[in-house]
Amino acid sequence: MAPQKKGEDKAMGKVAIYPGSFDPITYGHLDIVERALEIFDKVIVAIADNAEKRPLFSIEERLQMAKIIFKDTPNVIVDSFKGLLVDYVAKTNAKVILRGLRATSDFEYEFHMASMNRSLNTHLDTLFMMTSKDYFFVSSRTIKEVAKLGGGVEGLVPDLVVRRLKEKFKLPVTKKKQIGWDD
Ligand code: PNS
Repeated sequence: MAPQKKGEDKAMGKVAIYPGSFDPITYGHLDIVERALEIFDKVIVAIADNAEKRPLFSIEERLQMAKIIFKDTPNVIVDSFKGLLVDYVAKTNAKVILRGLRATSDFEYEFHMASMNRSLNTHLDTLFMMTSKDYFFVSSRTIKEVAKLGGGVEGLVPDLVVRRLKEKFKLPVTKKKQIGWDD
C-alpha cells in the first residue's frame, strides 16, 4: 500500500453542512455550493423548517426546488431539518458548517450564530466563504421583494425559482424588466 501523504486522510470523505432558509434558493447559494465542492467531498444543503420565520415557500416547496436544481450535481444532498442546527449536524458525519458572507453587514449575525453553535458543540466549526462579486447584492429577502413588485430577478435565481416566484405572486410570466437607452 502506498504511504499516506500528510493530510490525505483528512481530505477523505469531508462533508460540509450548508444550512439556511433558502426562501428561495438563489444563484448566490449555488455559487457557494459549487465552490465548496472543490474543498469538500460532499455538501449537504440543509433547509431549515422554520415556520416561525413565516417563509414565502413552504418547506416542501423549498425542498422540491432545491432537489430539482441539484438533481444533476453529484455529491450534493438536499435535506431539511427542524430544531437546533447542531443537533442535525451531530446526526451526520460533518464537522463543518458552511455559510456565505456577502458583506461586513452579514458578519455580526454570522459571528453570533457561529459562536453560539460552537458553544453548543465544540467539535463543530463554521467556515465562511465570500460570495462571488456577481452575487454579493443578492439575498432571498431582496429577491422576494423585487419579484413581488414585478421586477426581474432572472439571472439572480434559477429559472425554476423565477417561475415559482411568479406563481406565488400571481404575476404573468413576462420578459425581464430592463431599462434601456430607448426607454
Ligand atoms: O438563511 P438563513 O435564514 O440566514 O439561515 C439561518 C439558519 C437556518 C442557518 C439558522 O437560523 C439556524 O441554524 N436555525 C436553526 C435553529 C438553531 O440552531 N439556532 C441556533 C443558531 S444561533
